[in-house]
Amino acid sequence: MILSGKACVAGVMGWPVGHSRSPRLHGFWLERHGIDGAYVPLAVPPDRAEQAIRALPALGFRGCNVTVPHKEAALRAVDAVDPLAARIGAVNTIVVRPDGTLEGRNTDAFGFIANLREHAPGWALGSPALVIGAGGAARAVVVALLDAGAPVVRVANRTRERAAELAASLGGPIEVVDWAERSDALAGAGLLVNTTTLGMAGQPALDIDLSPLPPTAVVTDIVYTPLLTPLLAAAARRGNPVVDGLGMLLHQARPGFAAWFGVEPEVTPELRRFVLDGR
Ligand code: ATR
Repeated sequence: MILSGKACVAGVMGWPVGHSRSPRLHGFWLERHGIDGAYVPLAVPPDRAEQAIRALPALGFRGCNVTVPHKEAALRAVDAVDPLAARIGAVNTIVVRPDGTLEGRNTDAFGFIANLREHAPGWALGSPALVIGAGGAARAVVVALLDAGAPVVRVANRTRERAAELAASLGGPIEVVDWAERSDALAGAGLLVNTTTLGMAGQPALDIDLSPLPPTAVVTDIVYTPLLTPLLAAAARRGNPVVDGLGMLLHQARPGFAAWFGVEPEVTPELRRFVLDGR
């Protein structure tokens, strides 16, 4: 794509950032919609994150995505934090407003639910959900589930205090589950979500006995390298519907693209294939 001098510019800030699929994902949409714009990787070390974020308006950026490890720094660096990002405690999308101030948003909760709705339309929201993990990704998932109306969200984390802190800070119908009880907590659940890095290429698998899980329960993983994690493979073998984590990445990108480039983009099978081909 040849850019003009008026091109709209956005990007993804992270450290490292070379593995990010976001430039390919947004690049696909820019090309598809014939937009005079660019979406670039911004490799910014942790001690420069706030400075780099504050420089976005001066550089003429429309905004950026923020990824590991800058999501908390972004919360501090922006001028205004939207209520959802404040609850989650992390910013993954920054929008430069017309007056040059910075607004921090979080689109991970939206991406999580949109992915489930797309790939597990029969998902029964009426039953409890079990979330494994209590890090930043878990907070976005738990907020998404509470806001979608989940009656109970059970949270099991290796370090129990972190799950307790998450429950105390988010409020609502959250039950903290001991790590040793994670399999038992699958009884009666309609959804199991892994938000940890367990199952990622090079990491051990999540060790959980799926036998108490009802056969209709949906199992999803935010890990998408590999697409079929050991957890998803085990769930699929026993007949549970499974949803991989790539769709969450694709859907969480939609609100940022719309804000920066003025077009509502779509998640299509073609986009999914294109992002996967970039591996
Ligand atoms: P993120 O913000 O991406 O969610 P994080 O805050 O580092 O990342 O959280 C990682 C999550 O994976 C945590 O819930 C962590 O458990 P602890 O709070 O006990 O550290 C979990 N995790 C990572 N490695 C794990 C392992 N080997 N076994 C169990 N849980 C693990």
